[in-house]
Amino acid sequence: MSNSGGDFQVVTRKKWMARKCLRRRDRHKSESDYLNDCPDVNVEKFQPRLERLCTEMCQSDYFLVAMEALQQQVEALKRPLKRIVCLGLGPFSRTHQALHQAAFVVSLQRHYKILEALYFDPVFRDTEKELIRLFDGCVMSEDCAGRDEATVPTLYYLPHCPYALMHNILWSNWQRDQLPNVLLISNSFEMLTMARRNQEDHITRIVEYCTETPLEDDYEHHNVFNDLSLHTFPRDSLPASDDESFWTRSAAPLKVNEDELITEADTNFAALKL
Ligand SMILES: C[S@@+](CC[C@H](N)C(=O)[O-])C[C@H]1O[C@@H](n2cnc3c(N)ncnc32)[C@H](O)[C@@H]1O
Repeated sequence: MSNSGGDFQVVTRKKWMARKCLRRRDRHKSESDYLNDCPDVNVEKFQPRLERLCTEMCQSDYFLVAMEALQQQVEALKRPLKRIVCLGLGPFSRTHQALHQAAFVVSLQRHYKILEALYFDPVFRDTEKELIRLFDGCVMSEDCAGRDEATVPTLYYLPHCPYALMHNILWSNWQRDQLPNVLLISNSFEMLTMARRNQEDHITRIVEYCTETPLEDDYEHHNVFNDLSLHTFPRDSLPASDDESFWTRSAAPLKVNEDELITEADTNFAALKL
C-alpha cells in the first residue's frame, strides 16, 4: 500500500498483533481496543486534511468512473438524486479505509449538489460527528438499523457493512413504486448471496431483478473500495405490482449481526497515524 502524502501508517493485522503480543483468537477484541485507545483528533487540523483528500478523490479515476456509472443510473431513473444516507462508514478519523470512504461520499455529495446527507455509525466519536457537520452532513440521532424510507431518489452508501443493513433498506422500501428510488453502493449482492441462495430474505429475493454495476477498484490504496457495486432497481425490471407473493415483505427486518462486523478480519488493518 502506498504512503504518498506521508499521512498514513499502514499496520497489517499481523504486525499490529505481533507488536501488541496478541494471539489470533484475541484479535477482534484487540482491534476495538486499538480504536478506543486512539486519541481524539483536533477537528481544526483534521478538516483541511479531509478537504485535501476530497480534492484528490475528485480527480481520481476511481471516483470519475464511479460517477459515470451512477450518472447512467440516475438518467435511467429520470429524476435527480435528492438524498444521501451513509451507514457503517466506520471511525474515519482513526482508520485509513473509512477516511478515504468519507472523502468519496463527501465528494459525491458535492458532485451532485445534494443538500441532505445523513450518516450513522455507532462508533462515531463526537469529533467525527463534528467533522460530518463541517462537511455539510447530518448525523442521525438514532440507530435506524437500515430502516429508512426512500420517498425521493436516495443514494445509500454502505461500504463493507453488515448484511442486515442492506437487507433492511430493501425491507423498508419493498414496493414496486418505491424501490427504484433506492440506489445502493455496498458489497456486491451477487457475491453476498452466493452462499445464501436458499434463503428467503429480501436481498436473495431481489438479486435477479436488480441491476448491479461493479465499481472497479483501481484506487491507489487497497482494501478501501474492494468488492463494492452500485445496485439499482429499475421499475420495469421488477415483478408486477400484483405479484403478491413477491411484494409481501417479511414480518420483521433483520437484526444487525454483531459478529459480522469483524468479517474483514483477514484483510489488512490500516490505522491512521495520529
Ligand atoms: C466492517 S465495518 C466497515 C467500516 C468501513 N466502512 C470499512 O470499509 O472499513 C462495519 C461498520 O458498520 C458499523 N455498524 C454496525 N451496526 C451499524 C448500524 N446499526 N448502523 C450503522 N452502522 C453500523 C460498524 O460500527 C462498523 O463501522
